[in-house]
Amino acid sequence: MSEVTDQLEPEQALEADLETEEALDSELVARRDEALAHVRKFGDPILKTKARPVNEFDAALRAEIERMGGLMRDALGIGLAANQVGVLNRVLVYRVQEGAPVAALVNPEVEWRSSMQETAEEGCLSLPQVHVDVERPVHIRVSAQDGFGAPIVIEASGLEARVIQHEMDHLDGVLILNRTSREQRKEATRALREWQFRAE
Ligand code: NI
Repeated sequence: MSEVTDQLEPEQALEADLETEEALDSELVARRDEALAHVRKFGDPILKTKARPVNEFDAALRAEIERMGGLMRDALGIGLAANQVGVLNRVLVYRVQEGAPVAALVNPEVEWRSSMQETAEEGCLSLPQVHVDVERPVHIRVSAQDGFGAPIVIEASGLEARVIQHEMDHLDGVLILNRTSREQRKEATRALREWQFRAE
């Protein structure tokens, strides 16, 4: 499997148009940076906090889902969990295919996971510049609710299954740093501390 990340390079989201490429690129980058400024980063305790089940399926919840979807798109991500935008609700959004509608899962629970696992590289909007190998089940079945409280069941494989599991980890306060090898965790933590130092 090729590299998997919840961060896409800006180039991938661009349609090549020679005349406007440069302008588009800087616009896209500006929008991405604006969105990323709203995403909680490594060191924020909310990323280690377990999110609470959602009981009220009201307009506020649907507005939150909308906002998360917009931020994820603008940040050029393929998944986002509520913790990452400072909200401790069990809500995640994802979109693994460009142009597809954003999917939202409220109160997701894994019903079944395959014994077959696969290792692939993952990134995270909350962990700038970090990519680590994570082993996860290849196939999963997840039950959840939509923004109105209606039950949904998702059967996912490959990249989709990986993103859902990555975002569900966020809802439990778990990061990819906790899912990789000791070696890679050490290396990533060092890179993150350097990044924090530069950002200060
Ligand atoms: Ni993430």
